[in-house]
Amino acid sequence: MRKAIFFIVALMGMTTAVAQTPVYLDQTKPINDRVEDALQRMTLREKINMTHAQSKFSSPGVPRLGIPEVWCTDGPHGIRTEVLWDEWDQAGWTNDSITAFPALTCLAATWDPEMSMLYGKSIGEEARFRNKTVLLGPGVNIYRTPLNGRNFEYMGEDPFLSSRMVVPYVKGVQSNGVATCVKHYALNNNELNRNNTNPILDERTLREIYLPAFKAAIQEGGSWTIMCSYNLYGGKWLSENDYLLNQVLKKEWGFDGVVISDWGAAHNMGVVKGGLDLEYGSWTNGLSGGAKNAYDSYYLGVPYMEAIQKGEFTTDELNDKCRRILRLIFRTGMNPNRPFGSLNSEAHVSAARTIGANGIVLLKNEAPAKKAPKLLPIDLTKTKKILVVGENAIKMMTVGGGSSSLKAQHEILPLDGIKARVGNAAEVVFERGYVGDASGEYNGVVTGQNLKDDRTAEQLIADACAAAKTADIVLFIGGLNKSDHQDAEGADREQLALPYNQNDVITALAAANKNLVVITVSGNAVEMPWVKSVPAIIQDWYLGSEAGNSLADVLMGDVNPSGKLPFTYYASLDQCGAHVEGDYPGTVNPNIHAEFFGNKVPIYDMKYNEGLFVGYRYIDAKKLQPTFPFGHGLSYTTFAYGKATIDNKEISQDGKVTVTIPVTNTGSREGKEVVQVYVQDVQSTLVRPEKELKAFQKINLKPGETKNVSFTLDKTALSYYDDTKKAWVAESGTFNVLVGASSKDIKSTVTFVLK
Ligand code: BGC
Repeated sequence: MRKAIFFIVALMGMTTAVAQTPVYLDQTKPINDRVEDALQRMTLREKINMTHAQSKFSSPGVPRLGIPEVWCTDGPHGIRTEVLWDEWDQAGWTNDSITAFPALTCLAATWDPEMSMLYGKSIGEEARFRNKTVLLGPGVNIYRTPLNGRNFEYMGEDPFLSSRMVVPYVKGVQSNGVATCVKHYALNNNELNRNNTNPILDERTLREIYLPAFKAAIQEGGSWTIMCSYNLYGGKWLSENDYLLNQVLKKEWGFDGVVISDWGAAHNMGVVKGGLDLEYGSWTNGLSGGAKNAYDSYYLGVPYMEAIQKGEFTTDELNDKCRRILRLIFRTGMNPNRPFGSLNSEAHVSAARTIGANGIVLLKNEAPAKKAPKLLPIDLTKTKKILVVGENAIKMMTVGGGSSSLKAQHEILPLDGIKARVGNAAEVVFERGYVGDASGEYNGVVTGQNLKDDRTAEQLIADACAAAKTADIVLFIGGLNKSDHQDAEGADREQLALPYNQNDVITALAAANKNLVVITVSGNAVEMPWVKSVPAIIQDWYLGSEAGNSLADVLMGDVNPSGKLPFTYYASLDQCGAHVEGDYPGTVNPNIHAEFFGNKVPIYDMKYNEGLFVGYRYIDAKKLQPTFPFGHGLSYTTFAYGKATIDNKEISQDGKVTVTIPVTNTGSREGKEVVQVYVQDVQSTLVRPEKELKAFQKINLKPGETKNVSFTLDKTALSYYDDTKKAWVAESGTFNVLVGASSKDIKSTVTFVLK
């Protein structure tokens, strides 16, 4: 009996203990109930603390309640090195070197959502292992001008392609309980004057070209955070842009996550009502204000608290911000089911190599002489000596370029990758050809490479040409690099031309040896004045840890190239709408100015006069011939397209059409082809681009194999945004569906009518 009473009392004790588990810690409760419970336990000061940084990359949770901090990291190509608490400089840890994945231009060039999922899952695992809450990426700003220094961090010029490619990245990362932070929302399409540019464009262009990838990342990918950009829109900073943050993102798109400021993008108390939730980086150096805790003086810090206490704001906005941040923490750091992640695993290294090789684009591949075979792939049974020329064959590219700079555990250089693959089968010799930028340091991370070479430019060319005369094949590996005014944050390129004297080197090499392959390592198109005299050209990208191996895979034919350009390769800036019709880099607005640390700074209005006509849309409208069009990319095999057929000649507004086309591998190697579908509105009330990408599929075909590739289109593929109706409209009439291998290589067209 006594035993039984004791048991009942003990049980009652247990139930009381269970009943006392606070709702916010109860995993069985819906997340919004937990958020409300946590919120009502927090003091004003705790709420304020949560909305702004406490260090360069972290912000507080609620220590008293056991709610963990938020830790952010760049992004988007690998997990950034740990930095000092208050500084950009690396902290000097020895356990933070990582796997560097290919740049996002390369990912976009795979045109393969499965590669994007692999990328997201892998980089997410690294972020998780490094205990990060938020990965600052991916970037989806549109490639409006080839001069933008940060295009390498984005997914190209087309809103449909970047939308399809961003969604799996987000899902892959977040499956690790790590949030993505899609950036830079919105219209951060140039680095020049990035803090004080005010793009001027119509609502339709905004909706059709610049917002779709963000919308897809939020609505389809479910990204838990987004980063507002440095620039302005409608004369308002993005960090306090009621229209883009509150109306479009939060209300229209239903975003329930956190708007994080780009580092230092907040400029005044307008951020309170303007839609910013979490303020980071307002001081370049966290202590420079001279205050005891400089973070207290962030706009969303003590000034915000005092403004609430004075009655200038209610706590409505603060509670909304905290709800969002709590939701983020419950989804990430307080999700007990999230995996543990992994770092530098074999799987990650192999993912980096695979994605790299699948994104490399074979731009041109001809026979250097009559009756000779095409120059690539390199046939090692017939090659005795390979000459590699060019700085980018030996220069580390994971260091530099701005916030995406990395400390990679290893980086296989192109020359080393080629040597390793060739082994004893042939001799591989190297000549520098030109000296570009021999430095290699970013925020304290050093490459340790000594790339100095004191020969004159003439001597370097003469030495390369002498070696070329005795080589069976010459591989010139150049392009851009991560130095200022190239592919780097904070400034734009100053020209479309290749830097240094690379054009001279290439021209001289082409004269010395007809078996010349030019390989451009870059995240942007470059001018190619020598394009006709070089038989083979490869667009290589910043490929990260496995750069040299991925390139060797393609050069030797171990991987059949299947990448396609995610942007137009303009022959000159005269083919780019932003430069011909627009007023890049803008003009000073006489009526408004910015103030940075007490200094007056002009605001540049930048007119996007080209409107919808970005990239191939402009090329089509003006009937131009770029060096290589959007969507272009060759293979070592050949594909034949049959006639496209359509299941329905007439559909209603809610109807669908399915277009099918047979594609055959007519060569002797297995290979992958990206079948592209463009839609053309034959008559339309509003002006529309001649055609727009609305579907694509990457298929694998064995030699001789045929596949019927089908695409289903509904009204979303036919619509335009009507500013006056503030709605997407699919106008009745005739539509053509153009199926092809690039934007300039349409193989078959079918027609239907929308009623
Ligand atoms: C960049 C962001 C980056 C942040 C933190 C900013 O300067 O624009 O892309 O995530 O710094 O490093």
